[in-house]
Amino acid sequence: MASSAAGLVVIVGSGLIGRSWAMLFASGGFKVKLYDIEQQQITNALENIRKEMKLLEQLGALKGTLSAEQQLSLITGCSNIQEAVEGAMHIQECVPENLEVKKKIFAQLDGIVGDDVVLSSSTSCLLPSRLFSGLAHVKQCVVAHPVNPPYYVPLVELVPHPETAPATVDRTHALMQKIGQSPVRVLKEIDGFALNRLQYAVISEAWRLVQDGIVSPNDLDLVMSDGLGLRYAFMGPLETMHLNAEGMLNYCDRYSEGMKRVLKTFGPIPEFSGATVEKVHQAMCAKVPDDPEHLTARRQWRDMCLMRLARLKSQMPSQ
Ligand code: NAI
Repeated sequence: MASSAAGLVVIVGSGLIGRSWAMLFASGGFKVKLYDIEQQQITNALENIRKEMKLLEQLGALKGTLSAEQQLSLITGCSNIQEAVEGAMHIQECVPENLEVKKKIFAQLDGIVGDDVVLSSSTSCLLPSRLFSGLAHVKQCVVAHPVNPPYYVPLVELVPHPETAPATVDRTHALMQKIGQSPVRVLKEIDGFALNRLQYAVISEAWRLVQDGIVSPNDLDLVMSDGLGLRYAFMGPLETMHLNAEGMLNYCDRYSEGMKRVLKTFGPIPEFSGATVEKVHQAMCAKVPDDPEHLTARRQWRDMCLMRLARLKSQMPSQ
């Protein structure tokens, strides 16, 4: 079986995202220590990971080359942070999205770690300059923002603090690739990083189209799931432009005036409230009622789709 020679990774916060990271690191042969302030969260996480891994193994969808039992033997819980970080090469923080809670954790870690470990935050939207400024080990700090569910959606945005050492980003990039994730470098920090800025641009126009009565909520979603989304699972918007004409220069030649004309008609930032939210809410609930049972079932279906898509992507010849 793979040994812990790959190194020790510590997960701080054993909730939804911490559990996923634990599974991903174990799939790459890393020894994983799960830390949490709530002992019960660690117990729940270990049970939940066992169930998930066994199921994934049955479905033939377990990541990595090790069996579920081998991967499980690499993951342990630890309720003492000082003990947990002993000998760690990478610490992945996954506590709730609250600046004060995260700053407290990083201050605590700053006082007990050496100069070799990477201190990484899973934050979705807190800027590195707010999280890491003033830390003695700021050169070793980086944001590694995963996408939910990280086991099936491999993208990780790496966002440095202005004082982060380039080697910290390089090491984290290499580590993410080693566990099968797809890291991208956000070269300078910006609110929303790259993924949420794109996502919010899409949500914003989707909302305006429904608000203005141009399309129904369900048809709007189809525009993405049966239209743009199919391409976007394999190539981004820039390569799409390149292929939709005789190359990028030709695309801009042909379509830039049209794009600018349409872009000028985009409306203001929506309020996401009032009659439109009611309309969208009703349409979504008619499809998936918003009680825990229906939402969980639909999320399971989504994860199954993502798992199969991941398999398809891995089988496609690369060009
Ligand atoms: P969660 O609420 O499921 O888990 C947070 C865990 O942190 C809990 O187990 C809690 O007991 C523990 N915790 C709280 N204070 C702590 C402390 N001082 N020391 C150690 N453990 C502590 O949260 P979730 O969803 O896993 O989110 C974690 C981070 O990941 C957040 O920053 C979030 O923005 C980010 N993220 C979440 C995504 C999502 O879709 N849920 C997607 C991408 C990033």
